[in-house]
Amino acid sequence: MGDMQDSAIVVAGATGNLGGRITRALLERGASVRALVRHNTARDRLERLQKLGVTIASVDLGSASEVTAACRGASCVVSALQGLRDVILDAQTVLLDAAVKAGVPRFIPSDYSIDFTKLPSGENRNLDLRREFHKRLERTSIAPTTIFNGAFADMLTGQMPLILFKLHRVLYWGNADQRMDFTTMDDTAAFTASAALDASTPRFLRIAGDQLSARQLARVTSEVTAEKFRLFRAGGLGTLGMLIKIAHTFAPGGNQVFPAWQGMQYMRNMFDGRAKLEPLDNDRYPGIRWTTARDVLSGRRVG
Ligand SMILES: NC(=O)c1ccc[n+]([C@@H]2O[C@H](COP(=O)([O-])OP(=O)(O)OC[C@H]3O[C@@H](n4cnc5c(N)ncnc54)[C@H](OP(=O)(O)O)[C@@H]3O)[C@@H](O)[C@H]2O)c1
Repeated sequence: MGDMQDSAIVVAGATGNLGGRITRALLERGASVRALVRHNTARDRLERLQKLGVTIASVDLGSASEVTAACRGASCVVSALQGLRDVILDAQTVLLDAAVKAGVPRFIPSDYSIDFTKLPSGENRNLDLRREFHKRLERTSIAPTTIFNGAFADMLTGQMPLILFKLHRVLYWGNADQRMDFTTMDDTAAFTASAALDASTPRFLRIAGDQLSARQLARVTSEVTAEKFRLFRAGGLGTLGMLIKIAHTFAPGGNQVFPAWQGMQYMRNMFDGRAKLEPLDNDRYPGIRWTTARDVLSGRRVG
């Protein structure tokens, strides 16, 4: 990996959660980072990036000329943008076209998910947008690399309605033995940074800090908390599908990226097993110590 460290890596979404972590992981690897930020980004967020040694390029992701100028000379553009069609398709397409025009050889789109190439469209709105963006990627001369990491393991102790800590239950749909992929945001960021600095990445890279089923999650949670966690079957995948339709009808969620029904679509896709990651590329870069679900649960703040 010797020859590409000199040129900059462009990061779009560096003020965001994953993007910030990717930026720090790139800097730790000795890369120079150019963050594309919006014109109206708050000054304290910019100063935080500048203190780390990041170069700031303030651009409008609607302006091809501004973004092209900001991409010049970079060896890879990493997108960690988040949003709906206006971002994942429209803004990312401006970014992609600009990268091509500026002669950037490689592009990492904002995917970071379960393997949606295995899913037909119509099952998961947010992933459909990313699959649609892939069609645009394939039409360009740039070399794209998608990082698939399953679900962010950090969500096991937060947003993800799997481990119900108060009720001492692990909720599941369908099959309690279906294994699922979990990777922390930091591990995803570390791997993405290494991939951004690797001149010869394949089209897809798959990583998982841990792979475990609801039954295994119940066991690990019981061990870590020293309290008994039992399985709770909420229903089959057909029932979940019906609930998604109902939730979508009665709480469509407008412009929200994660309305309840969208979270339920992710659950369905994880429990049905088709988007499971294999084979894994965990060993591609030395020095990444993968964080397990047990590690995440052990670090949980009690209360
Ligand atoms: N696998 C999983 O479990 C999982 C979970 C969560 C997220 N993800 C994925 O991780 C990726 C990043 O998500 P995140 O949670 O880190 O997102 P986030 O914290 O919301 O950050 C989004 C970033 O995109 C920027 N952005 C959005 N719209 C923009 C626009 N029109 N022009 C310029 N910048 C724009 C934001 O800039 P500002 O700071 O200016 O707003 C911010 O830097 C996404 O692909 C998401 O789907 C995966």
